[in-house]
Amino acid sequence: MSDERLFTFRNRWFAVSVLGTIAIAVVSALIGFVWLPSAHRDAPFTGIWNAICSAAGVPRDWYAGGTTVEPKVKLTSVEITPQLLVDVSANSIGRGATLALRCTMCHGERGMSDANSPNLAGQYASVIYKQLIDFQKGARTNAVMSPMAMNLSDQDMRDLAAYYSNLPRPPAQRKVSDALAPPIVAHGSPMRNIAPCAVCHGGIDSKAGSPWLDGLPAAYTKSQLIAFARGARTNDIDGVMRNVARNMTPEEIDAAAMYYARELNAGR
Ligand code: HEC
Ligand code: HEC
Repeated sequence: MSDERLFTFRNRWFAVSVLGTIAIAVVSALIGFVWLPSAHRDAPFTGIWNAICSAAGVPRDWYAGGTTVEPKVKLTSVEITPQLLVDVSANSIGRGATLALRCTMCHGERGMSDANSPNLAGQYASVIYKQLIDFQKGARTNAVMSPMAMNLSDQDMRDLAAYYSNLPRPPAQRKVSDALAPPIVAHGSPMRNIAPCAVCHGGIDSKAGSPWLDGLPAAYTKSQLIAFARGARTNDIDGVMRNVARNMTPEEIDAAAMYYARELNAGR
């Protein structure tokens, strides 16, 4: 058989291999560039053309009309240092007390919520300050709370943080005893890469930026853990809490929420 007769479409085998290869290439391209990308719900994939460009790795501002599409999750812009807001002046606390009048409706007269809003009394100033900035910038969102942070100036947020952090924490109704803490709080779960909550949230140690959890309403703690687990709350620096919550079972979430709310049957 000569070369000439081998590479000609009259040779059935040649025709079948060439057309077969082309067909496979077309089908893979359709799957890879059109079908799979268009199944994505993310903004850069809306529309066939965007989907094709995204899949092919074309820089986003080349095809999105020069506008960069906002990343889907907003992360926090706050950096927490151990020095943040450790010294607060009486002046700042005073201004904060006046500003706080508009917060009492939900967070209680003295920072202790009767509803299921988080308590603010005795919360670390750096935590309050960071959360307010996150609400204002949209890194953390809540239909009720977000609008409350919109018109606060940086100084307002510092003053509010100073005021609330200086209010007394709720008196401990139970002795903080490791025997009462559910295993997930006291020991975490090394196999699932969960450090004991008490390593960051107080009890064993406290890491800057980790909120004081003791006394928080169980419904609130639970809702935050679920939000972290589902990626609905993404303002935790480096995803520390998302990584913890994602690996917790629903029972552990309940037990931790009950424990921090001081419901004594926590974990039993
Ligand atoms: C209408 C009710 C309402 C008002 C008024 C309100 N908040 Fe809130 N706040 C909430 C709710 C609800 C949450 C919990 C949001 C969530 O579930 O993510 C919250 C969360 C917070 C948090 C985060 C606490 C934490 O532990 O993470 C801070 C800080 C806060 N509010 C401060 C304030 C300040 C300061 C004001 C006044 C300027 C204020 N809030 C006014 C309802 C309110
Ligand atoms: C490695 C440190 C670390 C560990 C371990 C950890 N957390 Fe956290 N947690 C944080 C930080 C930091 C935040 C604040 C995130 C932010 O900036 O919004 C947080 C926030 C939270 C919040 C939201 C509180 C609020 O007022 O908004 C809850 C609830 C919580 N953690 C529960 C837990 C529980 C329960 C465990 C143990 C199963 C745990 N955390 C383990 C660091 C940690």
